[in-house]
Amino acid sequence: MTIIPSYQGKSPDNSPSRPDKVAQAKDEKSVLDDPQTVSVTESKARKRSLVLSAQETPADNRSDNALRPQTLSEYVGQSRIKAMMQMSIVAAKGRNESLDHVLFYGPPGLGKTTLAKVIANEMGANIHMASGPSLERPRDIIGLVHQLEKHDVLFIDEIHRLSRVAEELLYPAIEDFVIDLTSGKGQATRTMRLPLPRFTLVGATTKAGMISNALRDRFGFVCRLEFYNQEELCAIVARTTKILNVKAEEKAVQVIASRARGTPRIANRLVRLVRDYGQYQGKDVIDEGTAIAALESYQVDTSGLDSTDRRFLEILIDNYNGGPVGVETIAATLGEDRDTLEDVYEPFLIQNGFIHRTPRGRMATAKAYQHLKRKAPNMQLNLDLAVDPLEEKW
Ligand SMILES: Nc1ncnc2c1ncn2[C@@H]1O[C@H](COP(=O)(O)OP(=O)(O)OP(=O)(O)O)[C@@H](O)[C@H]1O
Ligand SMILES: [Mg+2]
Repeated sequence: MTIIPSYQGKSPDNSPSRPDKVAQAKDEKSVLDDPQTVSVTESKARKRSLVLSAQETPADNRSDNALRPQTLSEYVGQSRIKAMMQMSIVAAKGRNESLDHVLFYGPPGLGKTTLAKVIANEMGANIHMASGPSLERPRDIIGLVHQLEKHDVLFIDEIHRLSRVAEELLYPAIEDFVIDLTSGKGQATRTMRLPLPRFTLVGATTKAGMISNALRDRFGFVCRLEFYNQEELCAIVARTTKILNVKAEEKAVQVIASRARGTPRIANRLVRLVRDYGQYQGKDVIDEGTAIAALESYQVDTSGLDSTDRRFLEILIDNYNGGPVGVETIAATLGEDRDTLEDVYEPFLIQNGFIHRTPRGRMATAKAYQHLKRKAPNMQLNLDLAVDPLEEKW
């Protein structure tokens, strides 16, 4: 596997694993507490408790290698995408061809990077990893594609942040497997076309709407990752407890899964936190009561909402009678910027039916009233104004 050095965010941790779980627990705590160690990509989610942030923390990154599924059969959920990938990989291998280019999009922590690595494993190919912002100049792209071998996977994370120059250089590379090298200036400009081996570009983004149509149209597969359901999350939590050598009763697994916000990354983090809590309490086996007490001590409520989510709902219900309220108004009242609200908080609240996005602003649903134990008004009017919460960007 090749890691491009300029890629700051998610290089794998090659440090030896630490057998001492208490030391690890301390380590995780200090990482959560120390703002210096929190990467820039996480700064957006700073105001959300790091326990429930879907963004990757350094502690997640450390346990990633052990927890990441390596094959399609280990990868839980996303069955539609998995079936499509399975079929196409078998077909591509049968024809001795590279897999068509794939774009994965969806909220953080749902398994886009994991799928890219799974694809490379299933193809028996190398994966070369880079991120959009690190590919600024032509030589960044040239250096990257230069290392590719036949059928390799080139993974570009945050692909919506590619510079225009980089994007245009990539077009012939992904379409015709050639790259144009330019030298000289003015009349002395020369272009040389170099062939590239057939490779698969896997792009990932949390912001589908920010990818140009020209780039999007060059992907053979465009796949949207969905939040995971309770059954899938239970399978992920059970798998993680097994890998981490944590004994947990089935009821405890269900509790952790139900508060993981439909997100494997959060599910894995909650398992680690519950494990540390159980260890501190001297429990050999995590039972339902221990899991609940642990998660409550981290202020994770029964639906996986944290204090900022609840404040969001309180603003809607208590200050604005359930809405509709403009997103800018909510952002100002919460002290957040609009982007953070839309990218970090809203997807889960909308997906889980706590709020509706309407043409006139956000509205609290009957479920939100119930969750905050407020008396709900007649919700018929609200529903009339509602639009499809899954509102496709394309
Ligand atoms: N389908 C799955 N089955 C089991 N574990 C999963 C699955 N998807 C993701 N995970 C776990 O969740 C973690 C986060 O996944 P991943 O890094 O692939 O998310 P992502 O979508 O790339 O997030 P981001 O948008 O922040 O880059 C992984 O370390 C992996 O252990
Ligand atoms: Mg990723």
